[in-house]
Amino acid sequence: MESESSADQAKAAVEKAPRDKVASKTAIVTGASAGIGLSVGRKLAEAGANVVLVARGREKLDAAARSIGLERAMPFVADVSHFDSLRELLRATRERFGRIDILVNNAGLNHRGAAVGISPDTLAAIITTNLTAPIFLSRLVAEHMVQLVQQGTGSIVNVASLAGKIPVKHEAAYSASKAGLRAFGRALAMELDPLGVRVSTVCPGPVDTEFLGDLEHVPDIVLSQPMVTPDDVADAVLACIQSGKREVSLPALSGLLMTLGYVFPSLAAALHPLLERRGAANRRRYAASRAAGRAV
Ligand SMILES: NC(=O)c1ccc[n+]([C@@H]2O[C@H](COP(=O)([O-])OP(=O)(O)OC[C@H]3O[C@@H](n4cnc5c(N)ncnc54)[C@H](OP(=O)(O)O)[C@@H]3O)[C@@H](O)[C@H]2O)c1
Repeated sequence: MESESSADQAKAAVEKAPRDKVASKTAIVTGASAGIGLSVGRKLAEAGANVVLVARGREKLDAAARSIGLERAMPFVADVSHFDSLRELLRATRERFGRIDILVNNAGLNHRGAAVGISPDTLAAIITTNLTAPIFLSRLVAEHMVQLVQQGTGSIVNVASLAGKIPVKHEAAYSASKAGLRAFGRALAMELDPLGVRVSTVCPGPVDTEFLGDLEHVPDIVLSQPMVTPDDVADAVLACIQSGKREVSLPALSGLLMTLGYVFPSLAAALHPLLERRGAANRRRYAASRAAGRAV
């Protein structure tokens, strides 16, 4: 009798213990040959996951997979805006690893400047890459994950931006795409949560990667928020996979400020000149760090 009750207690303890949502799982990470995606792929593999790394350029992607280790990492060359490739990505992942537990929609595109000075095709490409592609891929993967729920749980994490929390001048299509991605993630989370699939959104401010571009051309308002590293963002992505938290901003205080600015546009307008001055000062500091060969 006593041994039965301790067996029950042990079983209850195992059931109550937080289950690792990464070890022995299989993850697809888009935009994974550099920056945030590469760091996410590396950290997932270090935590015991198999990773399928997606990017357009083969050479860098193969090098990224080799640096992680080909027993865990599979490179898959694709442009996320080519939807036939995404169907093929699913097929190839299942063929190699048998299942998909985690999807990180991270590949992104931005072109800065006045919207009327950017070609309509380029504006549309920003929406296709940053919004339509993650929607398409999430839809494909979610169906597979829902069928797998008996065996575990699924996680989808979308990498959006603070620009999706408050629109940025000269990044109109980019801001729209990231705001749309946040909305999609929140709605999908409500649909999939009861089916055991968690959907999270990570909204970073400026991140020190090539994507940020030449510091001279980054708007002051963007640089007004503290710069974070690709590893900081990757840590937030992994924390979301483990916790299922719906949305995380980096830094958290910047996320709060953007929400306040969105809800109270007159507050945003009043703070704008102050933030632009701070951004200009940060730019000088970052440029000096780069000139001295240090990380910004
Ligand atoms: N850096 C920032 O300041 C910042 C701030 C907020 C949010 N974000 C978001 O973070 C995400 C990742 O940015 P990052 O800074 O890590 O960029 P990054 O360092 O430039 O890396 C981008 C990665 O995505 C791949 N990629 C680009 N377009 C692709 C496409 N159409 N299909 C497949 N792969 C593609 C690139 O490889 P190939 O070129 O070979 O395809 C590369 O591996 C983006 O969604 C971006 O919007 C970035």
